[in-house]
Amino acid sequence: MTQRFSFDLKATDGTARTGVISTPRGDIRTPAFMPVGTAATVKAMLPGSVRETGADILLGNTYHLMLRPTAERIDRLGGLHRFMNWDGPILTDSGGFQVMSLAELRKLNEEGVSFRSHIDGARHMLTPERSMEIQKLLGSDIVMCFDECPALPADRARLESSMELSMRWAQRSRDAFGDRPGHALFGIQQGGDDAELRARSAEALRGIGFDGYAVGGLAVGEGQEIMFRVLDTAPGMLPADKPRYLMGVGKPDDIVGAVKRGIDMFDCVLPSRSGRTGQAFTPRGVVNIKNARHADDPRPLDDSCDCPCCTGYSRAYLHHVFRSQEIISSMLLTWHNLRYYQRLMADIRAAIAAGNFAGFEAAFEAGRAAGDI
Ligand code: GUN
Ligand code: ZN
Repeated sequence: MTQRFSFDLKATDGTARTGVISTPRGDIRTPAFMPVGTAATVKAMLPGSVRETGADILLGNTYHLMLRPTAERIDRLGGLHRFMNWDGPILTDSGGFQVMSLAELRKLNEEGVSFRSHIDGARHMLTPERSMEIQKLLGSDIVMCFDECPALPADRARLESSMELSMRWAQRSRDAFGDRPGHALFGIQQGGDDAELRARSAEALRGIGFDGYAVGGLAVGEGQEIMFRVLDTAPGMLPADKPRYLMGVGKPDDIVGAVKRGIDMFDCVLPSRSGRTGQAFTPRGVVNIKNARHADDPRPLDDSCDCPCCTGYSRAYLHHVFRSQEIISSMLLTWHNLRYYQRLMADIRAAIAAGNFAGFEAAFEAGRAAGDI
């Protein structure tokens, strides 16, 4: 008997929520942060290590995997979970967003997007139907609708026609996905920074009916002030009894502000990518390990952190291996950053459950104001 996909809200504090998404591959505690495993790997990390940081779910990408090694090959090899040796839930993005930022010679029409691969220049076509097929071949647990995400700022006419196209594609995604017990399909709200378009998009998605709802089209150049203005109203337009996912966000303070406004799920390359460029997240803000001030420092990166990087190594060592371009530098800093993000989410969940999100927020801001010393 296949367990169904479900979402149980456990507690709310203002508009902030905490709960659990149940899937046949395991539970996802919300608010949740999903590490990004674009090319069937969270770079520099073994899957078991990602799990040890506290992650319940990973994100994978239709666009990258369809080009290399192809969805058909992953299917023949037993699906993405088996292929990458991660047995927890996987959410896959649908490809539209990545096509627009990475592919060459893109042509968009009602049918979908045709493009040339950024890897070998080969021509491909993504449509809602093909995206659903690829995400099924991958074995994705949470499938995202195929959508279009315009960069901001954009004029209203452009935002309106793009949102309407995405809503037609959402219906086609729903039809192509069909009924797959234990697997979820999420709709994606668009409409840019226009509250009326956001409301119309939410209405269209609610009419179709999804297992969860994403807020798309943000963190695309608009800045935090505009993003928070949109999030003051957008989550409330989506069903309260389904998970809400803010795509591609973000920095720690973006996440705290978005949770406060009713978001349950996040993904971002920031902790993993920054780990490879020497930027470390701590309760006292960002530390650049490349900085000469760390060269003789015997202290851990973050004395409040329980990760292998912080319990086993000094700032001086991390500075040395980063400067020497040793592989362990990416491994340790990525582990630390992913652990920092998961501790942040655990603290957020505990604060909401205790009805003390305001207290959490005050402590979060005080730590950053104190700075790294
Ligand atoms: N990742 C970040 N933003 C978006 C979006 O609007 N749509 C999709 N599909 N992925 C995203
Ligand atoms: Zn650490």
